[in-house]
Amino acid sequence: MLMTQEPMLRRFWHCLFPVSDLTEKPRAFRLLGEDIVVWKDLDGKPHAVQDRCPHRTAKLSLGTLDNGHIVCPYHGWAFDGDGACKLIPQETTVRQRAIHVRAYHCAERYGQVWVCLDEPAFDIPLIEPYRRPGFRQVFEFSEDWACTPLRIMENEFDAAHLSFVHATSFGSTDPIPNLPSIEILDDGFIARSRPAVRNPEGQRVALHTTEDTTFRMTTGRYYVPFFRVTEIAYPNGLKNILVTALTPIDDRNTRFNQFVLRNDTEEEVSTEQVIAFDRMVTLEDKAILESTDPDVPFDNSEGEEEHMASDRPGLLMRKLVRSVCDDLRKSATKETELAGA
Ligand code: FES
Ligand SMILES: [Fe+2]
Repeated sequence: MLMTQEPMLRRFWHCLFPVSDLTEKPRAFRLLGEDIVVWKDLDGKPHAVQDRCPHRTAKLSLGTLDNGHIVCPYHGWAFDGDGACKLIPQETTVRQRAIHVRAYHCAERYGQVWVCLDEPAFDIPLIEPYRRPGFRQVFEFSEDWACTPLRIMENEFDAAHLSFVHATSFGSTDPIPNLPSIEILDDGFIARSRPAVRNPEGQRVALHTTEDTTFRMTTGRYYVPFFRVTEIAYPNGLKNILVTALTPIDDRNTRFNQFVLRNDTEEEVSTEQVIAFDRMVTLEDKAILESTDPDVPFDNSEGEEEHMASDRPGLLMRKLVRSVCDDLRKSATKETELAGA
């Protein structure tokens, strides 16, 4: 299935980019094939509206900001964060009919901008370790990958690719993967495993260890549809928590957002060193993932892909995305029927 073919994905919050990317200019983004524009008002609150002026369809993202409003570059109409037109410079009288550009739910959380295109079905996932004392946040990436988000998320829980894709960075030489135990939840699952990883130079710096091999306790929390929080605990007490939010730009492209939470200090491992190691690892993944088919079969009976035991987390994701979206569809249909009864 291609991502824009599932309208229920519009009812999830999607992470666009760090809020620090919002400056004095409006910023364009494409979310599930829809062009939107995002900006910050005078209080620093982010807003998102359709990137299409209701006058003559010009892109508002080419415009400017004035007094917290977004101003169309074509004839200067200005809109507030709710999408209401506040100024038509060519007219001196107030219009009777309100003019609006379509506005979306928009919020800041974890230092990132989040948008939901329709009525949110769930809240933005709660990252329990986010405010843990002793942890620092390192922003790593907000960039576009030519791949569908489900493939990237499946890869995050794919134990079998480590000894191939990450052979030079940290993957064990043993191709038999350490399979996780999985606890299934309503909105995702928790996968727990204890794989062995090699520690080449970059990994030793990032983990401040001198060991050649480490067993690490990995607890990966997956949230439908494309969000994960994976806590990796090392024997030396280091905890490295990877937070990855994958946002469907369209059927072929994903905004890859990632930050980490770590219980060490800048003096022990610098921000640059943390990012450098994960940069190497993510580029190894990206090179392969961008070669995959954006059309992901959701139904195992479709027979378009062969599977093995280590694919279980990915197959569960497909099942969960499908069932959560189907449930949302059913309850929406029920509500419509009740409203008409
Ligand atoms: S097209 Fe936007 S004001 Fe005319
Ligand atoms: Fe990987």
